[in-house]
Amino acid sequence: KDTVRVALLGCGTVGGEVARLLTEQAGELAARAGARLEIAGIAVRRPDKHPELPQELLTADVTGLVTRDDVDVVVELVGGIEPVRGWLLDALKAGKSVVTANKALLADHSAELFEAADASGVDLYFEAAVAGAIPLLRPLRESLAGDRITRVMGIVNGTTNFILSAMDATGAGYAETLDEASRLGYAEADPTADVDGYDAASKAAILASLAFHTRVTAADVHREGIADVTASDIAAARSLGRTVKLLCICERVTDEDGVESVAVRVHPVMIPLSHQLSGVNGAFNAVYVEADAAGELMFYGQGAGGAPTASAVLGDLVAVARNLVLGGRGPRESAHAALPVRPMGQT
Ligand code: HSE
Repeated sequence: KDTVRVALLGCGTVGGEVARLLTEQAGELAARAGARLEIAGIAVRRPDKHPELPQELLTADVTGLVTRDDVDVVVELVGGIEPVRGWLLDALKAGKSVVTANKALLADHSAELFEAADASGVDLYFEAAVAGAIPLLRPLRESLAGDRITRVMGIVNGTTNFILSAMDATGAGYAETLDEASRLGYAEADPTADVDGYDAASKAAILASLAFHTRVTAADVHREGIADVTASDIAAARSLGRTVKLLCICERVTDEDGVESVAVRVHPVMIPLSHQLSGVNGAFNAVYVEADAAGELMFYGQGAGGAPTASAVLGDLVAVARNLVLGGRGPRESAHAALPVRPMGQT
């Protein structure tokens, strides 16, 4: 196979970067992948609103595009659960590999997506769904597959980390700092998913599922956001030599009868200023992984943004292309040990 044909769903901040890099770095990407990566089509809601894109590639017919014979890989950067779930299931069933950055979809529907990928013998990669540019899911799925992970803990939401860092630096309150974050473009027009912890909970579910080889959904995650964190909470933390961070904590726990389960939670935590996570400021993400043999590992970098997220998407695309060229597949996720998930609140 000398050409891998890519259907791009969505062409916003991340999709635009992916399209640009696929074109501008075509030669280098082809050399690394072993095949040319070619855009077969771009699905956008309103093709007439995208004069900057090659018009012959644009379509609003997503189902038609993802099942088209000449498409090998579908890259989904639309986000949200419906109708994306249906499009990706159609793509997988039609034998297309999928690369997606969709954390909400993976947090709740990974089981059916993995099963569809396995049934068709295709790849499902989603490095960009958690912690943007930081290589984290591939290490959990592959590099650490021989180890026993006991804990994954860190900062996985850039918006809330930006707000908490700014509150700590300026002494300002939550509401005015959120306004400032929106003005600077760090918070979405509707910041609910970030500030109420839903975004971090989706990411925590994905991390816990991969780390502990089980199925954790967002509903299993105990979740608290940052809306109730006040300037005086931050000042009190400072006076104790601490700062406040929104952490996701995924742990393997053992009860008094020796029964193991997985507990996953997202909430604000006062952490000592001596801890490395206290120095992770602004929109950056950082995640600690603890494993029996490896010990403690730390992953750090840009957790959001067009180019950083596109880096993760392109890495997945190259991996899929290499697998297609060699006739192999990436890691399977459907064969899971039944490690139970501790009900929410019992952490
Ligand atoms: N809203 C997310 C964040 C974007 O702030 O981290 C990246 O998933």
